[in-house]
Amino acid sequence: MELKFVKRDVLKEKPTDETKLGFGRIFTDYMLMMKRDGERGWYSAQIEPYGDLQLSPAALVLHYAQEVFEGMKAYKTDDGRVLMFRPWDNIKRLATSAERICMAPFDQEFVLNSLYELIKMEKDWIPTSPGTSLYIRPTYIGVDPFVGVQPAKEYLLYVILSPVGAYYASGLSPVQIYVESKYVRAVKGGTGHHKTGGNYAASLLAGEKAHEKGYDQVLWLDGKENKYVEEVGSMNIFFKIKGELVTPMLAGSILPGITRASIIELAKDMGIPVTERRISMEEIYEASLDGSLEEVFGSGTAAVVSPVGELIWEDKHIIVNGGKMGETTQKLYDTLTGIQYGRIPDKFGWTVEV
Ligand code: COI
Repeated sequence: MELKFVKRDVLKEKPTDETKLGFGRIFTDYMLMMKRDGERGWYSAQIEPYGDLQLSPAALVLHYAQEVFEGMKAYKTDDGRVLMFRPWDNIKRLATSAERICMAPFDQEFVLNSLYELIKMEKDWIPTSPGTSLYIRPTYIGVDPFVGVQPAKEYLLYVILSPVGAYYASGLSPVQIYVESKYVRAVKGGTGHHKTGGNYAASLLAGEKAHEKGYDQVLWLDGKENKYVEEVGSMNIFFKIKGELVTPMLAGSILPGITRASIIELAKDMGIPVTERRISMEEIYEASLDGSLEEVFGSGTAAVVSPVGELIWEDKHIIVNGGKMGETTQKLYDTLTGIQYGRIPDKFGWTVEV
């Protein structure tokens, strides 16, 4: 298949004040759009003006949530180069997420190369102020106009771009996290391990309740015993206990974060021991009482490395490191973003210049 380009007549105005970008509200001039149907397979791929989709009200995705997505970023270096971070891993995860909910396979290399073309075209949209980047949202949906429950034959795979600042309004200030003991996000054997939109829909009610109580995010526990920590939904989670980093192991209901995997490698490279295992809220609470809970932070593409200042679990308030960002969290943030923005040599081979 050949990638085509459709020009727009008038370009949009780019944001002038990068301190006001926020997250995910502004979109660039162009998007990548790929189409597939049952007869021809993938038959169209083009970079075209960003705009609304036209879908049948009966489109499968609107009824049965046959949708998967990714979150990636492009970064501008101080000398004006454009870098992406492990983009092949995101495209691979998009493909495995799609497989889990019976969506048609796609040519990963073609999608990745087309994405590079889109980023090259839109490079002037990449903000340059500290902490800003161009957020990339690949989205894959089944669109047959049919209201029976079955996998789609017709698909759209598109990529939109958004210049962004920090994901959390509070920036790098530590967030307060509400530990959810009633609702669950995902169970083993379900779709929690994959990036399906439905996982996020399932998280909204608890998220709203946590917001009403004044907390930023929800920390999910396992769906079976309601004891073991899973993830935050917008990020994976790490605890520093007695000098060791502990993060919940991937056992089928937690998203295998690419930032999570990078943090594990970076920490080990810094000589910090890392263990992936089950960790209960009881253990975290005990560690906070005896002073061995040193730091807590989340990791994700959007969230980067976000310090957690407080965990609210039932009637207990667990204050972490006096509510301040810890030394290890800061070091991991600086090293990860140093690699992503090309300030630190990338000995891991994670970045690619576009
Ligand atoms: C990302 O980190 O890119 C995600 O997709 C999480 C989303 C909730 C913003």
